[in-house]
Amino acid sequence: EQIEKGGYQHFMLKEIFEQPKSILDTMRGRLLAEEGIIKMAGIWDHLERLTNAERIIIIACGTSWHAGLIGEYLIEEFARVPVEVEYASEFRYRDPIISSKDVVIAISQSGETADTMAAIKLAKERGAFVFGICNVVDSSIARYTDAGAYTHAGPEIGVASTKAFTAQLTILSLIAIKLGNHNGNLGKADFMRLITELESIPKKVEEVLNSVDEVVKGIAKKFADATNFLYLGRGYNFPAALEGALKLKEISYIHAEGYPAAEMKHGPIALIDENMPIVIIAPKVGHYDKIVSNVQEIKARKGIVIAVINKGDTQVAAMADYIIEIPETSECFSPILASVPLQLLSYYIAVERGANVDQPRNLAKSVTVE
Ligand code: G6P
Repeated sequence: EQIEKGGYQHFMLKEIFEQPKSILDTMRGRLLAEEGIIKMAGIWDHLERLTNAERIIIIACGTSWHAGLIGEYLIEEFARVPVEVEYASEFRYRDPIISSKDVVIAISQSGETADTMAAIKLAKERGAFVFGICNVVDSSIARYTDAGAYTHAGPEIGVASTKAFTAQLTILSLIAIKLGNHNGNLGKADFMRLITELESIPKKVEEVLNSVDEVVKGIAKKFADATNFLYLGRGYNFPAALEGALKLKEISYIHAEGYPAAEMKHGPIALIDENMPIVIIAPKVGHYDKIVSNVQEIKARKGIVIAVINKGDTQVAAMADYIIEIPETSECFSPILASVPLQLLSYYIAVERGANVDQPRNLAKSVTVE
């Protein structure tokens, strides 16, 4: 096992550090940025299904569901197709309206999650075409879906999903950008700009890993005894906030809630006092000015701000108690970069607390029962 961990203390840490390579592996042979080509036979062989879809429904559980939420933002922004994201466990039991005009994208790292499988069966019975995005080759979901793409992130052993998540975001980016270009909603110049940027993501993830590790370790030491955490983000980084909070809950057993930053005023703001650490994802993209106001609101209530910001940002940096810097990228890819320090934060907090990082209590890597 020590050999399999490749010198890392835990599989989770190894998998976090593997991400520059796993994201590259996900793109390998698929993204030819200079030629302006995205290849993915498993999906493009049925591209017309996607093009003709009146609606795309993304079905998943856990971390994969968070990837699905970002998929919704990506597909709606670039391809302008309406997307709904459903928890498989809810979808399967609520007699959902679904027909042959719908296309389903099921996302599952393991390809074995019982709820996701049952939801796929239901969707197929009602005539929908189902694509699968799985990491485990030849898994049940990969075999049962009509078509799909593997994430190729390599085996993920740590129960808390890390590299599979960023691989899922990579695949969803490729699908959304290609579909948008194909159905005429994404012009050539924007298409080229996006794929060139996507190609640079593995390098930028590496940059994040090299630069934030010590900073995040220091923050983890300070907050290892916290009892609550709030994670906030806007736009594409709202699901990233949910995922950051989930990581912390899963492995450190600290209660954490993810929220859209603007929604804070409808509830979580009541929780803020000088003991509440608040992780706020605030790169200079989208509605940055709005997130600046959210930070002001938190500081006015003496909350402790741990901000994920772009290098060189001064506005949020001036107000935050702790900063974690990530490189600039397009808004749609910023959750990939922002997720990496949040994975590390949960990891180092769990280690500080002496938790069993790779096998947290009560959780399973793949949930094959209801
Ligand atoms: C379990 C795992 C999570 C995972 C979820 C969905 O709860 O602990 O890490 O996100 O199942 O799994 P899947 O394999 O379908 O992505």
